[in-house]
Amino acid sequence: MAQFKLPKNSRVTKGRTFKAENVKDPKTVKRFHVYRYDPDSGDNPRVDTYEVDTAKCGPMVLDALIKIKNEIDPTLTFRRSCREGVCGSCAMNIGTGKGGTNTLACTTGWDDLPGDDINIYPLPAMPVVKDLVPDLTHFYAQYTSIQPWMKTESPAPSRERLQSPEDRKKLDGLYECILCASCTTSCPSWWWNGDRYMGPAVLLQAYRWIADSRDEATGERLDYLQDSWRLYRCHTIMNCTNTCPKGLNPGKAISEIKRMIAERES
Ligand code: FES
Repeated sequence: MAQFKLPKNSRVTKGRTFKAENVKDPKTVKRFHVYRYDPDSGDNPRVDTYEVDTAKCGPMVLDALIKIKNEIDPTLTFRRSCREGVCGSCAMNIGTGKGGTNTLACTTGWDDLPGDDINIYPLPAMPVVKDLVPDLTHFYAQYTSIQPWMKTESPAPSRERLQSPEDRKKLDGLYECILCASCTTSCPSWWWNGDRYMGPAVLLQAYRWIADSRDEATGERLDYLQDSWRLYRCHTIMNCTNTCPKGLNPGKAISEIKRMIAERES
């Protein structure tokens, strides 16, 4: 079960219910229970319920949120940009019943979720800026710390640094990461030690550069990660791999880094 980072001394209260209007067939109504929190208000977080006539709504959870914002409650706040699983902005915790999964609202169909009641919360274990918008400042600082760019010492060739098709293939399953933070915020180790443990997304990104045949800073990168907190707080729980909305395997990337460090030690 995800751990939500509630503001200090607060509890989640039941919020308002917005009834659907002018519905032709009641069977097409779904209820979206959405976490609402405005730190500036001083109020407790609450969960508002929005009834949405899905007969007049696009197929994705993000479509429902946009419909709610446009037609029912303009105060609802969430991030989104590309609407096609490319930018990572719309990552949130979506589910039914008591469970929820960190995923992308724009690639999750409301019809694919069982039942007519859908719960939507912000990504867990991060402070909330407002409603469904998590504060990613620390996550991006951790990303910056692994120096996510190609580092070279050899003179630049006249045109470009070439890579064989075999070496290029080693980046498959890594370059596709969109830094949505779904995996990192699903990781219990990161929930408890996120101040020092890098978390799966950042470690996958680190391995993306370690695995790149054109990068010449492998030793330096492994030195930085060879640390009981930054890397070895991964206990292969594998929530990261199970939740990644792009189908990537951060757990495997982390184990590859561990293997490379073990090999150079021996
Ligand atoms: S809006 Fe870009 S990934 Fe969902």
